Amino acid sequence: MSSVVVVTGSAGLIGSESVRHFAGLGMDVVGVDNDMRGYFFGSDGSTKWNLDRLKKEVGDRYTHHDLDIRDRDGLNKLFAKLGRDVALIIHAAAQPSHDWAAREPFTDFDVNAVGTLNMLEAVRQHCPDAPFIFTSTNKVYGDTPNRLPLIEQETRYELPTDHQWFGGITEDMSIDQTLHSVFGASKVAADVMVQEYGRYFDMPTAVMRGGTLTGPGHSAAELHGFLAYVMRCVMEQRVYHIYGYKGKMVRDAIHSHDLVSAFEAFYRAPRVAEVYNMGGGRFSNCSHIEAFKIAEEITGLEARTDYVDQARTGDHQWWVSSTARFEEHFPDWRMTYDVPAILREMYEANQDLWKA
Ligand SMILES: NC(=O)c1ccc[n+]([C@@H]2O[C@H](COP(=O)([O-])OP(=O)(O)OC[C@H]3O[C@@H](n4cnc5c(N)ncnc54)[C@H](O)[C@@H]3O)[C@@H](O)[C@H]2O)c1
Repeated sequence: MSSVVVVTGSAGLIGSESVRHFAGLGMDVVGVDNDMRGYFFGSDGSTKWNLDRLKKEVGDRYTHHDLDIRDRDGLNKLFAKLGRDVALIIHAAAQPSHDWAAREPFTDFDVNAVGTLNMLEAVRQHCPDAPFIFTSTNKVYGDTPNRLPLIEQETRYELPTDHQWFGGITEDMSIDQTLHSVFGASKVAADVMVQEYGRYFDMPTAVMRGGTLTGPGHSAAELHGFLAYVMRCVMEQRVYHIYGYKGKMVRDAIHSHDLVSAFEAFYRAPRVAEVYNMGGGRFSNCSHIEAFKIAEEITGLEARTDYVDQARTGDHQWWVSSTARFEEHFPDWRMTYDVPAILREMYEANQDLWKA
């Protein structure tokens, strides 16, 4: 029976959680990660610490490949070797930052879009029956959510309670004719291609469009990793720059554990060409102001923030995902972490790393 899980971005937040989870189920995990996050975000972003920890914790069940997903031949050789032993692919390697992408559009597109196509084609050639899960993003909807009739409240923006998306935005929001950012556009290309390999080649592919993905495995950097960077700044007494919307923009946050348990549900009952919004939804969301308040309560420290009037280009003013479609397909799946639980865990996990 095939029992190998291939995880790209295996030293990153979602990749490392996936490695631990599936190794914990007794499967062998092959990881692909070249620490490119260090190149994107500098030393704050490097995932080497996480890889070292992973190797120690998981031991022989984990094999690491310092491979670049832009290396088409390298990926093809790896999948040719593994062949039909592959039971599942989790493709989480990416250039993940909205802001960074505009610095090097070619690099962003080569990693996010072409890297994903390299993965899909290697899988189609060597193990087409294995479920292929891709971590897409809510940025594929561009800034369309900013056209919602938002109401300003004391600490956040909100939708009217009778709005169709008050409970969370569903997958039928258009991804077309909107400001995506260069990052959002490269993820759209990948997202649509993953769907296409499902529909056209009848492969069991799933696109999971993440809200804020978070957890203690995040290498918190200013340009990526919202809640982890909030907690890091409060703990290290660094100044956090809040960009626009009076700090009232709302994000939903899903813990890496909850997302990876969704991956397992899909792996056990795969479907073809599915698309799911996967965020914290109504259960787990906050504005920047609210996140800092919770972080201050947990740490007993005062946050140091600085307000920049200009919002980030295309940044969402309000995003709460609806996970109803996923829950309908996988009724046993449950979300377990909300924002206070996520921040508390980060605080406890990083006592030695993040000090003032
Ligand atoms: N974290 C979020 O808030 C969020 C939100 C929505 C979607 N996503 C998506 O989820 C996925 C995982 O995000 P994450 O937060 O775990 O990111 P991460 O940066 O923590 O992990 C990604 C890993 O991929 C590796 N990588 C990057 N380029 C590579 C390349 N060319 N070859 C091999 N490895 C490479 C990096 O070194 C890093 O370890 C990404 O696709 C991201 O776009 C993340």
